[in-house]
Amino acid sequence: MTDKTHDAKPSRRQFLAGAAAVGAGAVAGGSASAATPDPLITQVQDWASGLGDGVDATPYGLPIQYESDVVRRNVEWLTADTISSINFTPIHALDGTITPQGCAFERHHSGAIELRKEDYRLMINGLVDTPLVFTYADLERFPRENRVYFCECAANSGMEWAGAQLNGAQFTHGMIHNMEYSGVSLRTLLEEAGVKPEGKWVYVEGADASSNGRSIPLEKAMDDVLVAFKANGEALRKEHGYPVRLVVPGWEGNMWVKWLRRVEVMDQPVESREETSKYTDTLANGVSRKWTWEMDAKSVVTSPSPQAPITHGPGPLVITGLAWSGRGAIAGVDVSLDGGKNWQEARLAAPGTDKALTRFYLDINWDGSEMLLQSRARDTSGYVQPTKAQLREVRGLNSIYHNNAIQTWWVKANGEAENVEVS
Ligand code: MTE
Ligand code: CO
Repeated sequence: MTDKTHDAKPSRRQFLAGAAAVGAGAVAGGSASAATPDPLITQVQDWASGLGDGVDATPYGLPIQYESDVVRRNVEWLTADTISSINFTPIHALDGTITPQGCAFERHHSGAIELRKEDYRLMINGLVDTPLVFTYADLERFPRENRVYFCECAANSGMEWAGAQLNGAQFTHGMIHNMEYSGVSLRTLLEEAGVKPEGKWVYVEGADASSNGRSIPLEKAMDDVLVAFKANGEALRKEHGYPVRLVVPGWEGNMWVKWLRRVEVMDQPVESREETSKYTDTLANGVSRKWTWEMDAKSVVTSPSPQAPITHGPGPLVITGLAWSGRGAIAGVDVSLDGGKNWQEARLAAPGTDKALTRFYLDINWDGSEMLLQSRARDTSGYVQPTKAQLREVRGLNSIYHNNAIQTWWVKANGEAENVEVS
């Protein structure tokens, strides 16, 4: 159908298109405008002149080649050998809250193992009425739950205790991922075995050489812990514990045992390597805090940030980041543009949910001047994320783990950003 009015006078549609082009110019710095014809608009492009790929070109889909920089990365000096390794989630390049498994950080103490479902066994023993061994197929027959939770390594931001060091949100805060887990409640399995009255703890261990054994109080084990076999709808990846891992909501990542093989009900904690010499915090007086299971409220601006500089001039700017708390849901996030002198409340993309990442946005009209960008999380327990100075006052400078301090990015007038500390 032809629009007869089209040539005679500007139609409403042309007016809107023109307005959109001018509007886009104002926001993006003006590559498109009605005055200079844009070949991407006016000319037929190669991709519209023939067929694209057939649907079966890649049976299991991968990101388009243009997104090949959205990947996990290492910090070389942290990863001396490949079997005791760590890599980082590219949080600076993701949006929303769900971490795709393909770019979720990994931490292995003795390498990622390959375990077939057929060879999988889970034993529940110790202070139970009936010791039990489950196959993978057995686990699939228990009532299932689906829940989104974050998993944060206790060492996340650990390299920043002594001062600003790593230049990028991926490296300072990327030992975290947030997935939707499908699995069976650990409580269901423990009830199946029948916990004896003397049972007060469980000791959980994995099938890898490190075993990564940890003690968990029975109260938590009977609360929200999941024996999970799916993440974001699909089977766990090998590196995240295929076929079965433990999900310990809100608690340090080390307790999320991968390749879960045994749950022993005990009357006391084991005090294993992973909960004594590791994952404890040595205070200024040399005494180590015994256990820090819950991950305190924390947040970080993911963009702009050193790996995600501002690439446009003054005007509308989207500031965004992530917030989370192991003690409940995020109640609110404040953002400061001047190193913590003034704060404004960010917009939460969705109301915070229990022990899961929350996405926040602050849409500002950037005047083009430099900023000391910070975010500060508040959770439903009333806790407010501390500054580095406040945290150091309580914890001293010996700690490696559990650094949840406010992060500062120095965003310069040219849009580049740097990791700094303000005092
Ligand atoms: N479980 C086993 N069996 N072996 C391990 O090395 N690493 C732990 C934990 N569970 C580990 C494990 C640590 S320190 C963390 S932070 C998380 O797994 C990391 O989980 P991810 O590799 O899925 O990110
Ligand atoms: Co860890």
